[in-house]
Amino acid sequence: MLQSTRILLIIGGGIAAYKSLDLIRRLQERGAQVRCILTAAAQHFVTPLAVGALAGERAYTDLFDPQSEFDVGHIRLARDSDLIVVAPATADLLAKLAGGHADDLATAVLLATDQPILVAPAMNPQMWAAKATQRNVAQLMADGARIVGPNAGEMAERGEAGIGRMAEPLEIVAAVEAIMRRTGPLTGKRMLVTSGPTHEPIDPVRFIANRSSGKQGHAIAAAAAAAGADVVLVSGPVNLPDPPGLSVVKIETARQMLEAVDQALPVDVAVFAAAVADWRAQRPSETKVKKQPGRTPTLALTENPDILSTIAHRSAGRPRLVIGFAAETDHVIANAKAKLAKKGCDWIVANDVSPGTGIMGGDANTIHLISAAGVESWPPQSKDDVARALVERIATALEDTKR
Ligand code: C5P
Repeated sequence: MLQSTRILLIIGGGIAAYKSLDLIRRLQERGAQVRCILTAAAQHFVTPLAVGALAGERAYTDLFDPQSEFDVGHIRLARDSDLIVVAPATADLLAKLAGGHADDLATAVLLATDQPILVAPAMNPQMWAAKATQRNVAQLMADGARIVGPNAGEMAERGEAGIGRMAEPLEIVAAVEAIMRRTGPLTGKRMLVTSGPTHEPIDPVRFIANRSSGKQGHAIAAAAAAAGADVVLVSGPVNLPDPPGLSVVKIETARQMLEAVDQALPVDVAVFAAAVADWRAQRPSETKVKKQPGRTPTLALTENPDILSTIAHRSAGRPRLVIGFAAETDHVIANAKAKLAKKGCDWIVANDVSPGTGIMGGDANTIHLISAAGVESWPPQSKDDVARALVERIATALEDTKR
C-alpha cells in the first residue's frame, strides 16, 4: 500500500506516455497522492488537461510559469514528495538527468530533489542499446537512481522489436512499493537473476526448449527483492507471474538473455539460475518447414554463448559474487565441482534433476552448495525456502568480502 505517499510523476515525451495515465490511477488506487509534471515533448502525446483531471490537481509544465512558481515553486515540487517517478524516461531525459541539466521544470526538479528517483526508460531498442544511453544509465545508477524496465517486446514502430518498451504500470507500481518499504540485509545492493528456459527458434512455429519452470530462479529474485536488493530478473518464457518489487526483462533466446544480462550490469551479485539452451538452430527457417514424404530434414546446431562463464570470466565489471546452477542427473557433486572451476564462478548450486526427483517443475528442491570452501548439502525444502536461505548466505558473503 502507498497510503499517503506523495509521488511526483514526471511524464517524458514518448508514445509510452499514454500508459502514464493508467499509472496515475494505479498509484492512486493504492492510496498514493500523485502530482504530475509534463515535459514539452510529453504534451505532444498526452495533454495537461487529461493528466490534471486524473491527478485531481493541475499538471505542471513550465519552469517560468509565474502562477505555479508563486503557487508551489519548483523547489517545493522537488521537496514535497516522497519519491519522483520518471515515466516514460526518454533517452534525452536520461541524458539530461545524468548530466545534471536543469533547463526545464522536469530537469530542474530532478536536480533539486533529495528524494529517491525511479526511472522507467522507454525508447527504440537501438537508442536503448546505444553506448551513450548505457553510459547515462550506469551513471544514474551510480548516483542512486532506481531503474524499472525497459522490457523486451514490440515497439510502436511497425515491425520493430527488442529491449526498450516501458515497464507496465503495475510493474512500476511494484517498484514504487518496493522502494517505499525496502530495508533488509541486501538494501543498497544490486542483484541480477536469470531464470527459466530459453526458446531457440527452428522456424516461426517450432523451437528448441527444455523443462525448466523458472520456479527456483523466480523465488530467488523475489527473496532478494524482499531482502531489500534492487533486482533485475532476466527471464525466459515461463508460466509464472512477475514477482513484485523488481524489474523483469523478458527474453526468448540465449543470445537475447546475454544481451539483457549485459545491460543489467553492473551488479553486486549475479545468480544464473536459467536453463539456457546449449545449442540453437544454425539457420532458423523464416518460413515453416514443410513435411515432405520420405524426406526428414536434418537440423544443424550451433553452440550458444555460455552466459555464466562469459560474465564470471570478465576481468572488468565482474560482479563480486557470481553464482551458477548445475542441474545434473548423475555424479551430481563431482560434476558440479568440475563446473565451478570451468565456469569461473564463486558458488555452484547443484541439484539432482533425474526424472524421479520431481525437482524439474516441482515446488521442492534438494541442493548442494559448492564453493572453494567445500560442499554443503542442504535438507530437502521448498524452492521458496531454498531461495530465502540462499539470499541470507549471499548477504553474509557480501558482508564478509567487505571486511
Ligand atoms: O553447463 P551447464 O548448462 O550445466 O551449466 C549450468 C549453469 O550455467 C547455470 O548456472 C546456467 O544458468 C549457466 N549457463 C549459462 N549459459 C549457457 C549455459 C549454461 O549461463 N549457455
